[in-house]
Amino acid sequence: MKRNQWILLSLPLLLGGALWAAGQSTDGGHSAMKKDSRLLVHLSDKLKRHMLGNMRDHLETLNAILVDLSAGRMDDAAQKAESRLGMSSMELHGAGQAAPYMPEGMRRAGLNLHKAATRFALKAEEEDLSGAYKALTEVTASCVACHASYRLE
Ligand code: HEC
Repeated sequence: MKRNQWILLSLPLLLGGALWAAGQSTDGGHSAMKKDSRLLVHLSDKLKRHMLGNMRDHLETLNAILVDLSAGRMDDAAQKAESRLGMSSMELHGAGQAAPYMPEGMRRAGLNLHKAATRFALKAEEEDLSGAYKALTEVTASCVACHASYRLE
């Protein structure tokens, strides 16, 4: 058989193999359906409720920031980011309470979030839109990184 024929014959096999492998390793993008390999972190019920409440506020704040940005209200976006997500929000969120129970990587992801939010606030105050967006993606990257690795018991 010629080399070209071999290639033609093996194509469906290769393709089938690739599809099978894809089926094994993905689930069409719904990561929640994948085998859960996130590290389970134990918090008391009270701290857990508190942390999840903060989380919902994080999402709400992110949304409010995007609304402000789309309307050109850079100062409002900066103020919300700093007070609810930035370094000065850590006290408000009682970050010190849950932090001792978090694995090091989780603590680091939390700190990255607060630092990035403060960077965003500074860029937004300077009316540096592209710098602000860049910092905002560092905020959301911290949400994604922590969620990918940890869950609460
Ligand atoms: C330091 C780690 C960490 C960071 C950073 C983080 N989260 Fe979370 N978040 C968690 C954990 C852990 C849970 C609980 C997940 C679970 O148990 O399945 C959670 C849950 C949530 C929930 C669900 C709340 C509920 O009531 O169940 C929302 C919404 C959320 N996070 C939004 C965000 C947003 C938005 C950001 C970024 C601005 C963010 N989180 C950053 C760790 C983090």
